[in-house]
Amino acid sequence: MFAIPLSDTLPAELRPLEPWHAEEFLAHIDRARENLNQFIAFASLTTDLDSARATLRHYADKAAADTGAIYGIWLDGTLVGGVMFPHFDVKHLNCEIGVWAEPAGEGLGLITAGVRQLIEHAVAERGMQRIEWFSSTRNTRSRAVAQRVGMRLDGVLRSYYLHNGVRQDSEVWSLLADEWLTSPHRPTR
Ligand SMILES: CC(C)(COP(=O)(O)OP(=O)(O)OC[C@H]1O[C@@H](n2cnc3c(N)ncnc32)[C@H](O)[C@@H]1OP(=O)(O)O)[C@@H](O)C(=O)NCCC(=O)NCCS
Repeated sequence: MFAIPLSDTLPAELRPLEPWHAEEFLAHIDRARENLNQFIAFASLTTDLDSARATLRHYADKAAADTGAIYGIWLDGTLVGGVMFPHFDVKHLNCEIGVWAEPAGEGLGLITAGVRQLIEHAVAERGMQRIEWFSSTRNTRSRAVAQRVGMRLDGVLRSYYLHNGVRQDSEVWSLLADEWLTSPHRPTR
């Protein structure tokens, strides 16, 4: 199984997250649920083993169609978060990156490290020209990840989506291929 190390000091790895991980994924989402529910609906898709399998199958189908993908972050053998391409558009050469973590995976730089790997893959291997990032204007930790990898704020989509009964303003951040190829944030490994 291929795995990309994410840290020089922590036993953390980025690996494909596949339907056969459903049980592990469900346990992880249960630990992450409260954290995620503050800002995104991702955890609500995974409430039992069948829906966990369906979520991972959805991304496996996207990978097969080359329209998206999902990867997990394991810390010391435990799934603690992940990074994904919710959209991957090979016609227009743009894609979106999304992220999540349970509390044990936060505050360690692992999400930022995973995002750098995804951007590198998208730009250097797949020729993507634009990487997008959407986050609620209230989501300061998400904004910090976008800033840490050198994204720029395109603007704010006012009242863009409903979450927890409240319409949210969404920031759109982006990074262009030329910016990434000369960026100090590119991974060296
Ligand atoms: C958004 C989310 C994934 C960010 O997780 P995170 O752990 O803060 O992100 P990072 O991996 O970039 O870690 C940064 C933290 O690790 C610290 N850190 C430690 N070593 C680091 C390193 N080598 N590199 C970068 N940061 C490092 C940073 O100082 C920072 O800590 P701080 O928050 O106390 O300032 C997480 O908060 C989450 O799951 N939120 C709920 C779901 C969500 O909002 N998803 C995004 C929707 S758009």
